[in-house]
Amino acid sequence: MIEFSEKTGIFSLYTGTLAYIMQLFRGKYLLHLHWGPYIELAERSRYVPFDERVNMVHADPGDKSYFIEDLPFEYGFRGNGDFRAPSAMIVDQINAPVLDFIYDSYTIQEGKPPLPGLPSTITMGKDDTETLEIRFVSKSTGVHLCLVYTLYPAFNVITRSVKVENTGKATVRLEKLMSAAVDFAPGEYDLLTLPGSWARERGIERAPLRTGITSVGSTRGMSSHQYNPFAALVRNDTTENNGEVYGINLVYSGNFLGEVEKNQDERIRVHMGIEPSTFSWNLASGDSFCSPEAVLVYSGAGLNGLSGVFHKFYTERLSSSAFRTQERPILINNWEATYFDFDEKKLLALAEKSRDAGIELFVLDDGWFGSRNSDTTSLGDWFVNKEKLPGGIEGLSSKIRSMGMKFGLWFEPEMVSAESVLYKEHPDWILRVPNRSPAEGRNQLVLDLCRDEVVSFLLERVSSILATGSVDYVKWDMNRSLTDVYSSSLEPGEQGGVYHRYILGLYRLMETLTERFPDVLFEGCAAGGGRFDPGILHYMPQYWTSDNTDAVSRLKIQYGTSIVYPPLFMGSHVSASPNHQTGRNTSLEIRSHSAMMGNLGYELDLTVLSKEEFDQIRQQISFYKKHRRLIQFGRFYRLESPFSGNSAAWITVGENKKEFLFFYYHILSEVNKSRSSIRFTGLDERKRYQDTNTLEIYTGSELMHRGYYLPLFQGDFQSILVYFTEAEQ
Ligand code: GLA
Repeated sequence: MIEFSEKTGIFSLYTGTLAYIMQLFRGKYLLHLHWGPYIELAERSRYVPFDERVNMVHADPGDKSYFIEDLPFEYGFRGNGDFRAPSAMIVDQINAPVLDFIYDSYTIQEGKPPLPGLPSTITMGKDDTETLEIRFVSKSTGVHLCLVYTLYPAFNVITRSVKVENTGKATVRLEKLMSAAVDFAPGEYDLLTLPGSWARERGIERAPLRTGITSVGSTRGMSSHQYNPFAALVRNDTTENNGEVYGINLVYSGNFLGEVEKNQDERIRVHMGIEPSTFSWNLASGDSFCSPEAVLVYSGAGLNGLSGVFHKFYTERLSSSAFRTQERPILINNWEATYFDFDEKKLLALAEKSRDAGIELFVLDDGWFGSRNSDTTSLGDWFVNKEKLPGGIEGLSSKIRSMGMKFGLWFEPEMVSAESVLYKEHPDWILRVPNRSPAEGRNQLVLDLCRDEVVSFLLERVSSILATGSVDYVKWDMNRSLTDVYSSSLEPGEQGGVYHRYILGLYRLMETLTERFPDVLFEGCAAGGGRFDPGILHYMPQYWTSDNTDAVSRLKIQYGTSIVYPPLFMGSHVSASPNHQTGRNTSLEIRSHSAMMGNLGYELDLTVLSKEEFDQIRQQISFYKKHRRLIQFGRFYRLESPFSGNSAAWITVGENKKEFLFFYYHILSEVNKSRSSIRFTGLDERKRYQDTNTLEIYTGSELMHRGYYLPLFQGDFQSILVYFTEAEQ
């Protein structure tokens, strides 16, 4: 429910277990009172200002009963006596900050208005959501600033965004516009973020909040391998299964900033939004601007509680793709099997083996177009290489399909190679700072998606291939950060908007293509997991988690990713041993157990395996198919962290808690250890469960509170995967 009380000036968004409460102060400011478990407020509840303090500023000299710096704002500005990081910076024609925003009005409506041009979480019918808009007006400029809150009662989720409309006569400039701001009361919190790098994406970092500003963010033009657009405040005594966590995730794929400030009074302000130092936007009279959406999740049940809410919500409400609720196919990808060195014969041999193993989708990766035999050439020339594939994509696809598999294809539409026909014909189509030769990353340049003609060209090119009907799946790659960010299609004064316009162009492209080809399953990729964010996941309901396919490295990567994103989204492949990235040797068993946590695929040359290895793969695939619904749509809980010890463990529990899969990984061999046990999470304490390997029966309460005894492991990189099913009482 969303309610406003005229009497108290209190806005409340609440469900049976969650409440988010704000209050008008002096009729003009909006204060943040509470976000957390459901609470009932007494009628006179209100913000209590501090007593008289020294060295503070009165924003309103006519009313000295409060200090602006004391107030927990719902959205804060700088320049009026609030010295904390501002939620927005808007300047008028004479470059003066707009500081006279005061409360104007509100609306509460069923449903959720769309965010034009931006991805956002979806709604299923009007009664799925309720939306509150709180409007502020600046009289001096005629600018309206509207805080938009949507409540998803069935999920205990609140989404937020901010809309600015210029109803004045003169242009104003947005220099910062955070999508979400929350002022917390003092408390002992840690900040949890998901930093990483190429091939080691989304580690977990948790550290006590210190006084001052701590931030994560990206200025790479993509949400990045280095930082995910996610930050959580975690009470310092919170564990996986107990305690409070407040998580904010931005539905955006470009530069972002997650900023947390703890000030002199230990008050904490949290922001999430577009990164301001690489953003400015001129808002002419009559124009409006919408910030990306932020998703806010509170959990009183630890980090697993937080992840549970995000996983369910994102599985059911993030993507509008028809594949959202469908089981995903097991694929073979030829990249690590052949790299650029393939022809049709080689691919068909791999496809036949894949079909025999039970694989359902054959994905042709990089190298099928132009004269692309290495990463130095041909991006942009999306025409098939007939030397490699004489029958074209259609010819290859029909042969693969006649084997009973689906066919998928790799693209990297946003890029162009300097050595390409496209670049020769349109050298002005790239991002480039005038009078400077642009930097290259992986030998490639970035197309300027601010230009309509570039977006139209890419639409036409990719569509013409998909329109043949021969492609069932697309892997959409993006292999470098943005540099030389300047668009010659825009006036000098508009250059501050290029990063954001690039993302808007990208979203337009993705939206049109995914709408035009609803039967094609799209998988996102950015040199692995470089843009693994809810913005891309809105269009593409699965993602290549990392270019690192090593089973042991993947434990950390997938574990960290699971803080926010469900296993269903995580492309995870069994690859060759020794692994191509780490050189590590691991058994086929642990490689499959690691990959089976998520959306399973294979990425190795199946034609060179021994009969035993091949049979093992066949068994893995049939096991996965049997439990696919449970793995892809079950409730996932982390049990043991690979970041803190020599093991990793998790379980996936089925609907009604009638079955579950237990995954355990023992990393390095240890000597003279006694058997240890591990306690499970999320089971029904009253049910009895059978370990289908040993046929042993356990009660749920026993497994949850006494624990399950692990075998003694011999050798490095060992794992077990056990299926438990409900046993007769
Ligand atoms: C990126 C992707 C890989 C593969 C290569 C092809 O690195 O992440 O999976 O597609 O590009 O060039």
